[in-house]
Amino acid sequence: MFTVYVACHDELRTELTVAVKNIPGVILNGSSADLRESLEECAAEAPGVFLVDDTLLAQNVGLFEKLAAVPYPVVVLAPSADAAAARRALAIRAKDFISLDSWAEDLGPILSRVAVPIQGETRQDGRVLVVFSSKGGVGKTTLSVNLAIALAKTSRQPVVIMDLDIQFGDVAPMVGDAPLVTLFDLVKGTAAVDSDMLKRAVKRVANNVYILAAPDNPEEADDVHADQVVQILHLLRETYAYVIVDTAPGYTDINVAAFDFADTILTVCTPDVVTLRTIGQALQVFYDGFHYPKDKVRIVLNRSGSKTGVETTDIAQVLQTPIAFQLPSDGAFPVRAANEGHPLLLQFPDSSLSRTIQSMANDLVRETEGRIRKNPAKRTLLARLTGRKPKEVQ
Ligand SMILES: Nc1ncnc2c1ncn2[C@@H]1O[C@H](COP(=O)(O)OP(=O)(O)OP(=O)(O)O)[C@@H](O)[C@H]1O
Ligand SMILES: [Mg+2]
Repeated sequence: MFTVYVACHDELRTELTVAVKNIPGVILNGSSADLRESLEECAAEAPGVFLVDDTLLAQNVGLFEKLAAVPYPVVVLAPSADAAAARRALAIRAKDFISLDSWAEDLGPILSRVAVPIQGETRQDGRVLVVFSSKGGVGKTTLSVNLAIALAKTSRQPVVIMDLDIQFGDVAPMVGDAPLVTLFDLVKGTAAVDSDMLKRAVKRVANNVYILAAPDNPEEADDVHADQVVQILHLLRETYAYVIVDTAPGYTDINVAAFDFADTILTVCTPDVVTLRTIGQALQVFYDGFHYPKDKVRIVLNRSGSKTGVETTDIAQVLQTPIAFQLPSDGAFPVRAANEGHPLLLQFPDSSLSRTIQSMANDLVRETEGRIRKNPAKRTLLARLTGRKPKEVQ
């Protein structure tokens, strides 16, 4: 939870303050169209982030020195590709820049990323969901990409997909992206992952959905190590409400690091005997080898209902584990969406697979929010002063 102060010209101020108030976990500390007055109010009570519109900056060059020295992060709202505005943002040492062309979409994610949480409260760590299978081609990436979009839609919070299929990752092409910076650039030649570099490597691909792409070619995969993966996961879950990790089959060091770190492992299987045999072996490793609690691993049956001769009830019995989610076969829609680099859930939102993944996301969000509510937090000073109900943390 964090506070925001908005300094903005009057035409946009109402719309902007309403949008700020609608960001989950945000309190609007105040707003003004007068920059000097804004700074005085924030000197009395520092906000978690100060959002200032560039037209006020252009009119108040004399306040730049004061702005550059404020103890809270400043974010500038300005037209993109405006060199003078960019110079002003640099001069006041702004932490980030929101483009006027896409401010409504970018506001929540950017403010959440830079804001200082309310004192006494720590930011709620995001939920890490690893999408795994002991078999290739069962629908892991299709699920990862579309589940991320569905989770962002339901939770209205930022979601990131980390592509940990380090040799042949294909999250980026599936969302129509060709990233300039990948996981390889982030880890090469360094033991400690740099959080600023991570911010640059993570790319927005849809509303509230971000990706960290896999290396461009298989040789680069050798440079990715398990301890770096853990560092990245720590950083990602501080910023994103959900971290989806797409994987390649196998118990590699990297996968095991992600499994250990995960809150939930979504294990994808299909209704065929060969896949089920390997899924059975994988579950044995999770439960008997790694001693994970039963509810950490969830079975997702993809292409459920396909006429393969293997019934859903038999699958649960063979695996001795209930099937948590069933996803239907969706004909050519998923392949068409992947070919066009436009995720299924955005391109064919009414297809049967899209609707089922959306309902799966709704269940996961409900479950996540339920877990948070079970552990009430202490009342903060601000909550006591304002009489607000306390935020509850895990
Ligand atoms: N429910 C479904 N209905 C129809 N097609 C599907 C379904 N799920 C996945 N597919 C298709 O199956 C193929 C494999 O899916 P995907 O790439 O997601 O699998 P994967 O497990 O990530 O594979 P890999 O192990 O190679 O990374 C893709 O062409 C995808 O469009
Ligand atoms: Mg894949």
